[in-house]
Amino acid sequence: MDKRLRASPLWRRKAILAAAILGLGAAFFGWRSAASARSGRGLHLSNGPEVGSARLAASDAPADLPSPARSTPFPTTSALASLGRAIFFDTNLSEPRGTSCASCHDPGHGFAGNNGSHVGVALGSRPDHFAKRNTPSVLYLRFARNFRLHWEEDAPLVDAYGGLFWDGRTDSLVELVKQPLMNPNEMNNGSARQVANAIASSTYDTDFKSAFGSALDDPDAALAAVGQAVTAYLLSPEMSPFSSKYDDYVRGRVEFTAQEALGLALFKNSAKGGCSACHKLNDRSHDPAASPFTDYGFDAVGVPRNRALPATRDPKYFDLGLCQRAGADYEAKTAEFCGSFRTPSLRNVAIRESFMHNGAFSKLRDVVAFYATRATNPSRWYARGTVFDDLPAQYRQNVNVDKAPYNRHPGDPSPLDASDIDAIVAFLETLTDVPRR
Ligand code: HEC
Ligand code: HEC
Repeated sequence: MDKRLRASPLWRRKAILAAAILGLGAAFFGWRSAASARSGRGLHLSNGPEVGSARLAASDAPADLPSPARSTPFPTTSALASLGRAIFFDTNLSEPRGTSCASCHDPGHGFAGNNGSHVGVALGSRPDHFAKRNTPSVLYLRFARNFRLHWEEDAPLVDAYGGLFWDGRTDSLVELVKQPLMNPNEMNNGSARQVANAIASSTYDTDFKSAFGSALDDPDAALAAVGQAVTAYLLSPEMSPFSSKYDDYVRGRVEFTAQEALGLALFKNSAKGGCSACHKLNDRSHDPAASPFTDYGFDAVGVPRNRALPATRDPKYFDLGLCQRAGADYEAKTAEFCGSFRTPSLRNVAIRESFMHNGAFSKLRDVVAFYATRATNPSRWYARGTVFDDLPAQYRQNVNVDKAPYNRHPGDPSPLDASDIDAIVAFLETLTDVPRR
């Protein structure tokens, strides 16, 4: 590992590596010099990744993105998925009763949501108890990737991909599903026994018993069974519907309006939005699964501090994301990963209640405007004069200031004007799944 690379912030190391790779690519294809890429103009391959994009520098990242990465260790029969659905919507599995998985992962909000809270993160089953982070959507999880770090001798880049949660801290959906049931700020069950008892008196207890025998007699087995059933539901085709206007557009069934088409073009244009460098899409493929709207990578976007969160009353409270990720393996616990969060898919983003890991934004247009003017007009976003104010000073250098749309200076014109922002929002609205008739 090159010491120089290791010591610099993540985005800068990515840029160095991208320039190196681009140099190779340019030499190979004879298209463009590495210098032009360093100046921010990425190359585009038809159907493929943007060669100038450091995000995709890792060898196995781009080409195979759409293929389902998860194999399930148990049969995902539709009966099991139906049982999982019943559990997911059961409001009797919390303490006190009233909060189900769907209270936060609300179908009306693209399986994300705040459970009635207005601070930006979801309310748990008890008043004044809030989840730590904004609720991510649980749609399209069958395409999620296991967490991994790339660190190869001949490609001196360490970079993180995949995993579940905003910090990628777990790979096992079956294990994850048990956590919100026990989390005191979410469903607050005191014990696995409590969950088993609630299931024993549910309307679906016979289905549970026919799937899992006497599992309810053993609280740990009961919880493991809940994990399996809910996982079967989350991985079922129903939870990856591909029923948005965008999906029909790539299938060739509908046209975009002029504004939506402009939004798509800006989203892809690396001198404008540059969004698709991370929120991956492939609008040349007729297969909607080729457009996950994430690369499962991590980035430090420099989201403003959300002062409505009770935790932020403590000025020393910071959510550092990836570098605080639990787990044994630990190159990710390096300083340059502090402030990085997993890139969320933008499918169904227009119907979410709040945005970013800390729920700092409640309007989608504000998120796009933030990207457009974070660099050119920082005082609009960082009210107290400190940029990247949701990170301790020593980690602010980790924030990506290298790639479009971030690579401007205060006072520069924004790469996106007001009508461009509206167009991107209109495009993002095409990503909302609609119920199929
Ligand atoms: C009180 C709100 C709340 C409830 C109730 C809740 N969740 Fe979540 N869920 C969250 C939050 C917040 C996160 C993100 C946590 C993080 O990243 O640290 C999350 C993350 C997840 C993820 C990871 C998604 C991803 O893209 O990484 C899954 C899967 C999930 N929850 C499933 C469930 C299931 C199943 C239930 C019911 C047993 C449930 N949740 C109940 C708030 C909730
Ligand atoms: C360099 C990678 C990168 C680029 C480029 C990028 N994003 Fe993101 N995006 C992220 C990451 C990472 C997050 C989560 C940040 C966080 O919460 O700290 C995010 C979050 C979002 C969210 C919030 C989603 C949610 O569920 O909360 C929206 C909306 C969004 N991006 C839209 C865009 C648009 C529009 C563009 C182009 C103008 C863009 N992004 C460019 C990486 C990127």
